[in-house]
Amino acid sequence: MKSFSYLALLSAIAPCALAGSGVDGVDVLIDIIQPQNSYPQTSDKLVSIQKPAKEEYEYVIVGSGPGGAPLAANLAIAGHSVLLIDAGGDYGHLRERESPALANPSSERNEVSWGFFTHHYENEELALKDRKLTYLTPDGQFYSGVNPPEGSTVLGNFYPRYGGLGGCAEHNALVSLLPSKNDWNNIKNITGDDSWDNSAMRKYFKKIEKAEYELPAGTEDSHGHDGYISIATNPAGIAAQDIKLMSVFAGAAKAFGVDNTEITAAINEAVATAEENSIDYETGLLPLNMTTAMTDAMANMLTWDINNDDEDRDLKKTFARLPQHMDSTNYRRSTPRDYVYDTWAATTSNGTKKYKLDVALHTLATKVVFDTTGDKPKAVGVDYLFGESLYRADPRANHTEDGGEPGTVRATKEVIVAGGTFNSPQLLKLSGVGPREELESFDIPVVLDLPGVGSNLQDRIETSVNAEFPTNFTRILACYYLAADGDPCWAQYVDPENEGAAKGTYASNGVVMGSFWTSSFSDDGEHDLWIGGFPALFNGFYPGYSSNAATTANKNWWSWLVLKAHTRNNAGTVKLASSNPRDTPIITFHNTYEGQTKEEADKDVGAMVEGMRMAVSFFENIPAIDGAATVFWPPKEVRDDDAALSEWIVEESWGHHASCSNKIGSDDDKMAVLDSKFRVRGTEGLRVVDASAWPRIPGTFPVLPIMMMSEKATEDILATQTGGGGNKPPGSCSRKHNH
Ligand SMILES: Cc1cc2nc3c(=O)[nH]c(=O)nc-3n(C[C@H](O)[C@H](O)[C@H](O)COP(=O)(O)OP(=O)(O)OC[C@H]3O[C@@H](n4cnc5c(N)ncnc54)[C@H](O)[C@@H]3O)c2cc1C
Ligand SMILES: *[C@@H]1O[C@H](CO)[C@@H](O)[C@H](O)[C@H]1NC(C)=O
Ligand SMILES: *[C@@H]1O[C@H](CO)[C@@H](O)[C@H](O)[C@H]1NC(C)=O
Ligand SMILES: *[C@@H]1O[C@H](CO)[C@@H](O)[C@H](O)[C@H]1NC(C)=O
Ligand SMILES: *[C@@H]1O[C@H](CO)[C@@H](O)[C@H](O)[C@H]1NC(C)=O
Ligand SMILES: *[C@@H]1O[C@H](CO)[C@@H](O)[C@H](O)[C@H]1NC(C)=O
Repeated sequence: MKSFSYLALLSAIAPCALAGSGVDGVDVLIDIIQPQNSYPQTSDKLVSIQKPAKEEYEYVIVGSGPGGAPLAANLAIAGHSVLLIDAGGDYGHLRERESPALANPSSERNEVSWGFFTHHYENEELALKDRKLTYLTPDGQFYSGVNPPEGSTVLGNFYPRYGGLGGCAEHNALVSLLPSKNDWNNIKNITGDDSWDNSAMRKYFKKIEKAEYELPAGTEDSHGHDGYISIATNPAGIAAQDIKLMSVFAGAAKAFGVDNTEITAAINEAVATAEENSIDYETGLLPLNMTTAMTDAMANMLTWDINNDDEDRDLKKTFARLPQHMDSTNYRRSTPRDYVYDTWAATTSNGTKKYKLDVALHTLATKVVFDTTGDKPKAVGVDYLFGESLYRADPRANHTEDGGEPGTVRATKEVIVAGGTFNSPQLLKLSGVGPREELESFDIPVVLDLPGVGSNLQDRIETSVNAEFPTNFTRILACYYLAADGDPCWAQYVDPENEGAAKGTYASNGVVMGSFWTSSFSDDGEHDLWIGGFPALFNGFYPGYSSNAATTANKNWWSWLVLKAHTRNNAGTVKLASSNPRDTPIITFHNTYEGQTKEEADKDVGAMVEGMRMAVSFFENIPAIDGAATVFWPPKEVRDDDAALSEWIVEESWGHHASCSNKIGSDDDKMAVLDSKFRVRGTEGLRVVDASAWPRIPGTFPVLPIMMMSEKATEDILATQTGGGGNKPPGSCSRKHNH
C-alpha cells in the first residue's frame, strides 16, 4: 500500500508538498498567495472599476452571480435605472476563465478567488479525520492533510467561490442542466404559487438558452435558440483522438448497462488501423480523420438530450452528453457576466449609453439601509466600502487593517441581495435582519427578527474514485495548463484557423459525458446520483487543488466524481463571526450523521456507497488496450468493505453547490425567509435572488436553475411595476395602474 500511496504521487509532482512519509492524506503545504502566471487578459472589453457613479437608482442589486446578473441586465433593458454591485473586479478575459478546460485553475486565481474555510462537522474529532483538512501554519502558510506542522491551527475545508463580476459561473465546470421537475413542483407545493410549476418554468430556460449543439429531432421547440447564454457540447471527435479515453467510456458503458458493442468495435478497428500505419496511439493523438467511427459510436451511445421535456427525463437511467455554458465557435465560456457586459456597454446610434445600467466593482456591500418609519421596514439603500480585496475570503486581503472608503447609494424601488449562499445571509444579518439573539450578541440593532436567515444550509455530498494507468492519456499530453510559457494547447485553442475538435483539449471541460441514475434510496424515483470523470487527480477541494489535479508531469490519472443530488440534510448554518463586514462568516454544514437522524443519514450515505461502487466498476470494465487501471483512492480495503466505505464517505465527502440558506417557504413556516416572489418576509422593497433562495437543494447542477430563478424574479419584479401587485402571474391581471 505505501509504495503506492497517494502522498508519493503528489510529492512527485508538487514541489510544495511535504516530503513526509506514512501519511495517508493530501499533505500539501503552500503559500496563501499562490504563484501564478501573469498573462494579460485576452481582451480589453471589460467593465471599468468604479464605485457607484450616482447617488440613487431605482434598483440596487448586490452580487453579480447567476442570481444577480441576469436580473440586473433584464431590469435595465426594461428601462429601469439599475446599479449592480460586486466586491470584485472584472476578469472576464482571463485565459483560465475563457477555456473550459482551465476551470479548476480559474477557481484559484488570486484576483478572483474567494476561498472560504467551512466546517463539515461541528464535531472536531470527526472533522480532523478529513484527509484534506486545511490548517494555518505558524509560518503563515496553508497546510492540507493529516500531519500539520506543530503549532498549526485548523481553518476548515477550503470552499472555492468567485469574488468578481459574474460570480461562480466564471470558474465553474460549465455543466448546464435543468433541475429535476420536483425541484420546481416542490416550491409550488410549499408556497401554493402555481407559477413555480415545472411546466411554467421552461419558458425561462428558453429565454436564457442559445442552443449551439445538435438537438435530437423533435426537441428543438423545448430549447431556446436566441438567448444570452450559449450552450454547447464538446466538439465531436475531441475525445476519440485518445483511444484510452474511449476505452474508459467503453468500460463505464459496460458497467452501467449501456450497450458498448459499437464503441468497442470502433476502438478495436482504430487500434488495428493505427498499428497498420505505424501510428503510435500510446504516445500521441490519433489524426482526426481516423476517429470517425469512434465519434459516431459515442454519438450513438449519447443520443439522449438531458435537457429535454420528456415525462421520464428525471427517472431514466442514462448516459448523456453534458451541455456546457460555452459557445460552439470559439468554445469560450459564456456567462451572465457577458450579458451584463453587453448591456452595460451597449450604445445608441449617437454613441450614448443605451441602458441605465451602472456596475460598481471593488464595492463591498456592508449593509442594507432601511426606512423603519412605516409598518414594515423598507429597504431604501445600501452602504458599501470601496476598495480592492476588502473581503477576507480574498487571499490578498488584509486581516489586521480595516480598509475601504465608505459610501451609501439609495434605491427608490428595491434592493435585491444576490451575494450567494454564504454572503446573502451574512449581509442580511449585518443589516439587522436575522435571528434576534445572534444579532444582539454582536450589538447589531435588530430591524427584523427573522430566525430562518442563515439556516437550512444544504450541499451535496461528493467523493471521487481515482486510478492510475500505466500509460498516459494522449488527449492531455501536450498541455501545460498555462503553468509554463508557450503552452501548445493554448495556441491550438485560440488559433482562428482551427475549428471544432481541431481546437484541441482546451475546447472542452474534459467531462465528456455524465451518468444519471436513481439509487435504491431515492424518495421519488428521480435521479439522485451522477458520475462524471476526467483525466486528472481530483479528490476534493483544498488550497492548491487545481495545480495538483492537472499537472504538466502526470498524465495518467483518471477520476470518477460521484455526486449525490437531493441530499436530505438541511441542518447547515451560516453564522456571523463578527460584525465586521470584511470578515467571513462561520459556515457549518453539519453533514451526514451530524445534521439528521441516523435513518435519514443512512440513506444519503447508502446512496453514495452505491455510487462509489459503480465508479469502481467503471474502472474494472475497461477493455484491455494498454494496461489496466489501478484504483488507489479510496484504498482497496476501504472500497471492499461496506462499513469502511461508509465511514470514508462521512470523513471525506465534500460539496460545492451550497444552497438554501434563505429559503423560500410558506406563510406559516417561521423559518421561511422569502415568500414565493423572493420577497424577504416582513420587509418591503427587499428580495433575495440567488442559490440561497432554494428550500431544498436542486438536483444535480444548480447554475442554470439559478439563472432561471433570476428570470422569474425579473418577471415578478416587473409585474409589480405594471400594477399586478406581484402576486399574480403577469398576464393574469387586467387592471393597469399608473404610479
Ligand atoms: C468549483 C466550482 C465548480 C462548479 N461547477 C458547476 C457546474 O459545472 N455546474 C453548475 O450548475 N454549477 C456549478 N457550480 C455551482 C454554481 O456555479 C453556483 O452554485 C452558482 O454560481 C451560485 O450562484 P449565486 O448567484 O447564488 O452566487 P455566486 O455565483 O457565488 O455569486 C455571488 C456574487 O456576489 C458577490 N458578492 C457577495 N457578497 C457581496 C457583497 N457583500 N458585496 C458585493 N458583492 C458581493 C461575489 O463577488 C459574487 O460575484 C460550481 C461551483 C464551484 C465553486
Ligand atoms: C405536490 O403535492 C401533490 C399533491 O399533494 C403531491 O402529489 C406531489 O407529490 C407533491 N410534489 C412534490 C414535488 O412535493
Ligand atoms: C489523414 O490525414 C493525414 C494527414 O494528417 C493523411 O496523411 C492521411 O492520408 C489521412 N488519412 C485518411 C484515411 O484520410
Ligand atoms: C442620443 O440618443 C438618445 C436616445 O437614443 C437621446 O436621449 C440623447 O439625447 C441623444 N444624445 C445626443 C447628444 O444627441
Ligand atoms: C495591512 O495593512 C497594514 C497598514 O497598511 C500594513 O502595515 C500591513 O503590512 C498589511 N498587512 C498585509 C498582510 O497586507
Ligand atoms: C507519460 O508522460 C510523461 C510526460 O508528461 C513522460 O515522462 C512519461 O514517460 C510518459 N509515460 C509513458 C508510459 O509513456
